[in-house]
Amino acid sequence: MRKVCVITGGYGGMGHASALSLGEEYFLLVSGRDVVKLESEVRELTRLGFDVEGVRADVRDEQDVRSLASRAQALGEVACVIHTAGVSPADSVATDIVSTNAVGTVNMVKSFSPVLSEGGVMINFASMAAYSMEPTQEWLDAFAQWDSPAFFDAMMGQVGEDDGCEDSFFRDGIAYSLSKRFVLYFTQMNTERFAHRGCRILSISPGCYLTPMHEKLIANQPDVAENQLELIPEGRWGHPYEIGSLVRFLCDSAAAYITGVDILADGGSTAEVFVPQIES
Ligand SMILES: NC(=O)c1ccc[n+]([C@@H]2O[C@H](COP(=O)([O-])OP(=O)(O)OC[C@H]3O[C@@H](n4cnc5c(N)ncnc54)[C@H](OP(=O)(O)O)[C@@H]3O)[C@@H](O)[C@H]2O)c1
Repeated sequence: MRKVCVITGGYGGMGHASALSLGEEYFLLVSGRDVVKLESEVRELTRLGFDVEGVRADVRDEQDVRSLASRAQALGEVACVIHTAGVSPADSVATDIVSTNAVGTVNMVKSFSPVLSEGGVMINFASMAAYSMEPTQEWLDAFAQWDSPAFFDAMMGQVGEDDGCEDSFFRDGIAYSLSKRFVLYFTQMNTERFAHRGCRILSISPGCYLTPMHEKLIANQPDVAENQLELIPEGRWGHPYEIGSLVRFLCDSAAAYITGVDILADGGSTAEVFVPQIES
């Protein structure tokens, strides 16, 4: 039976890089919410010789995600799910950030946990921003409501009121950190559940990679981008193909003992910011 790899955010920077690194081994089921961009991605991956199909799905829509999971199962053995779809303050407001990153991840895990085949792996994309704020008890209480209709409101309650006075970029930034901290925490909450089915689940927290998402930040907020670059010990932005290589390793049987963790791939930024560095 053919092995299927599902990639959300399929035509995004990290989704595309993941498809390139996994396409030789798996049948690719790439997904995104824009049909035109999705068709173009399918054409490109087909041109490169990969077996691929595109399915339109908005990860905020539980029914869309369920249909994506059913299609994956119909195509073969669902071996890996690379959930890269996400939005950031570079082009989205707090409500979209929470609904896409947090609610979208709940939808993905709920729909794919029953269809992932034994030995399969699910990788959710968090962010180094998840490390920028310590989760409070109130955050954890909101996270605990992941399966309740009140979840979105509970999360937005942690972002704070939109009183029209506060800088919206500040609120959007909190929503991003909160939603990505949730991705990391929720992934870990599922470790035992996945292990019981012979599967793994983990997250990747990228730092700053040169994808369309980060290019928007560089274009719209060059000062913020410059400050970020100064705080990267590696002294450069990450390249999407580096995420592709990491994803390929994490899907391989060589990584069979790696589950329930977050892989922080940020060129050293978090250590630089939060841990006193020894002078060279
Ligand atoms: N690039 C970085 O430096 C960086 C840093 C930290 C974390 N991350 C995280 O890494 C992941 C991948 O980011 P990237 O850099 O590859 O960004 P990207 O190039 O913008 O790709 C993200 C993709 O997600 C899709 N998407 C957004 N909302 C969606 C929805 N509701 N349903 C389905 N698809 C949706 C976008 O397509 P449409 O908008 O056309 O739907 C886009 O193709 C994201 O979760 C991001 O938060 C990235």
